[in-house]
Amino acid sequence: MTAASPPEDIWSDWILHRRGGGDPAYDAAVRADMMRFADRALDGAALRPHMTLVGAGDGLVAFRAIERIGPTLEVILTDISPALLAHAEALAIARGIRGQCRFVTSSANDLAAVADASVDAVITRSVLAYVADKPAALRAFHRILKPGGRLSLAEPAFQDEAFEVVALRDRLEAASRAGDTPDRILQLMHRWKSAHYPDTLEAMARQPITSYGERDLFRMVGAAGFAHTHLELHLDAGPSSITTWDTFLDVAPHPLAPSPRQVFAERFTAEERTLLERALRPLVETPGLTTTSRMIYVTADKPA
Ligand SMILES: C[S@@+](CC[C@H](N)C(=O)[O-])C[C@H]1O[C@@H](n2cnc3c(N)ncnc32)[C@H](O)[C@@H]1O
Repeated sequence: MTAASPPEDIWSDWILHRRGGGDPAYDAAVRADMMRFADRALDGAALRPHMTLVGAGDGLVAFRAIERIGPTLEVILTDISPALLAHAEALAIARGIRGQCRFVTSSANDLAAVADASVDAVITRSVLAYVADKPAALRAFHRILKPGGRLSLAEPAFQDEAFEVVALRDRLEAASRAGDTPDRILQLMHRWKSAHYPDTLEAMARQPITSYGERDLFRMVGAAGFAHTHLELHLDAGPSSITTWDTFLDVAPHPLAPSPRQVFAERFTAEERTLLERALRPLVETPGLTTTSRMIYVTADKPA
């Protein structure tokens, strides 16, 4: 492929524009988090010189791997977004490492352009979460790995956020069944949060980002033929890097979600927006939000 830029898609729009919410300080904090997750995934892959790695995405993981291992590492960057791969290719040229990279536009559950038993390691960071057919993707990873090759996944866990929205809905429905006057703020919170996550267990099961938990991932990796599966769930609560109301409005919780600003504009009247802002703004500004990062790290081997 060439470095010419194809039209953008939701993925390149997210990574190149939306993820940082237009706030340079928040963007820098997010990038530092991403790098930490990528480093953890690379540690799990046990990379060595003269390896070939499949690292999906815009280059974050792949370029970090090359930085760590050096000029002998070859990396195949696979992604479904041609725009992101074009962006990554331009970065690789600028860094003088284009010769170490191959770019393949493909869904993770296909990878037909990558030969069987041809790579030493497969790494994903925040990719499998968005793939509907995760077992098929894991089978594709297994197929392209050499015997003895290594899988290392770093994937977000979104189920807890969705469970909270399901609980909000349940609470409102229970109040309505009991004939109680529904709590206005709770109703608005539910309407806001359900724009970001499904609010029923059935809908959760239908969406790739909420259909799985860490135990499902663990089981799926084993079922795809991997051995020595090891999984760690990292839950880290701490102060949010979102400290201003404007940034709060512009940061979406994941690539498939609208920003709160969009949700407020499209789903609320001016009076409802004022009510919600009055309830939420003090939480954002003083003392500040607490956020929980939920990451699933899995390593496994393709039997030799
Ligand atoms: C949250 S971004 C993560 C990007 C990158 N891995 C990183 O570490 O920054 C999700 C990535 O998954 C890619 N993606 C989404 N669905 C995919 C699929 N079915 N197959 C392959 N890649 C996919 C998107 O294009 C995007 O690059």
